[in-house]
Amino acid sequence: MNDLLIRNANLADGRTGVDILVRQGRIAHIDRQIVATDLPEIDAQGNLLTSPFVDAHFHMDAVLSYGLPRVNQSGTLLEGIALWGELKPSLTQEALISRAMQYCEWAVAKGLLAIRSHVDICDDRLLAVEALVEVKRRVAPYLDLQLVAFPQDGLLRSKNAFNNLKKAIAMGVDVVGGIPHFERTMADGAESIRILCEFAAEKGLRVDMHCDESDDPLSRHIETLAFHSQRLGMQGRVTGSHLTSMHSMDNYYVSKLLPLIREAGVAAIANPLINITLQGRHDTYPKRRGMTRVPEMIAAGIDVAFGHDCVMDPWYSLGSGDMLEVAHMGLHVAQMTGQAAMRQCFDAVTSTPARILGLENYGLAPGCHADFVILDARDPIEALRLRPVRRYVIRRGAVISETPQPVATLSLPGRQCQVNFRH
Ligand code: FE2
Repeated sequence: MNDLLIRNANLADGRTGVDILVRQGRIAHIDRQIVATDLPEIDAQGNLLTSPFVDAHFHMDAVLSYGLPRVNQSGTLLEGIALWGELKPSLTQEALISRAMQYCEWAVAKGLLAIRSHVDICDDRLLAVEALVEVKRRVAPYLDLQLVAFPQDGLLRSKNAFNNLKKAIAMGVDVVGGIPHFERTMADGAESIRILCEFAAEKGLRVDMHCDESDDPLSRHIETLAFHSQRLGMQGRVTGSHLTSMHSMDNYYVSKLLPLIREAGVAAIANPLINITLQGRHDTYPKRRGMTRVPEMIAAGIDVAFGHDCVMDPWYSLGSGDMLEVAHMGLHVAQMTGQAAMRQCFDAVTSTPARILGLENYGLAPGCHADFVILDARDPIEALRLRPVRRYVIRRGAVISETPQPVATLSLPGRQCQVNFRH
């Protein structure tokens, strides 16, 4: 465990020029001009110091598999699911572990130190579960990996899914997943939610379901998820991921739905990069954006996080593990361009998902883990604009990644200068 003194940092809550004293890997004190000691020091130079980025929704079993065994030609969600089905039989544990470990290294370099990843449990061999449980163990010193048992082919639609899900939980998977809109009927979707929520309640587990990832305005499984969360007393431990059908729902119905979600303590996760590319595919023009109603849910008191969802896999060919890129897209798609709204977008990739994952000792207060990212930006809004390098990534008081400040040197007629895009 490490001791450290960080000088002259700006914090996301608006405090500027503060020092942070770290003792034994935890925050001991935050103040202006802490008296000099013989500790190692980092000068933050008035840059933004934030708690690490958190990705509340990811698929690490598919990451970096782009092009295997072929590329998604239509770019649709359904071809992505079909393609994943083609890839599954040829997966090996070594390849799964190797791709996931490479992605975790990218994540650390981007200051992303906590990830909730779904893992498909519909393959009876549970190869991906074994592989990601192993990855979780290996990365634990530097990255919190939370796993969700995800029945990609449907809990009721796929023959052994519920048994496999139970096995996955016994193997070390943390959270119960689901995909009600992919079941055969609306009634089966609702039944899958009941079964999964009761199982999670009995075991004391959290729930995070892919829910209503559809443009169908009548896909209303979020209502059922909220109902069971409230009925079973699971407030604060249940999450609906995607919720894209809410984009297309009747406004009057949504005015009833939002307070129900709030009352049930259900959190929401939008995945802007993926929602903007996969939804609205059956539309001509006007073409729906498909992302769920982010500012409206935040205004209703619902926790809303942004997830990355995919990086270079059957559903999405881009991405690099940069949660600022995710928040940047979310901000645009949701038209959250006001100052307060942009700060909410920053929270949606830091403090809000930390709460959804139930991360302990996360945050910038005495006693919290000394986990920080120092960015090459003054405040959260500049960070969103520039998506700059992460100068230092610190875990438990130790620097685990360092990136030099990139500066362009221009040679122009009659003028030599440097450009770093700070204003
Ligand atoms: Fe997903």
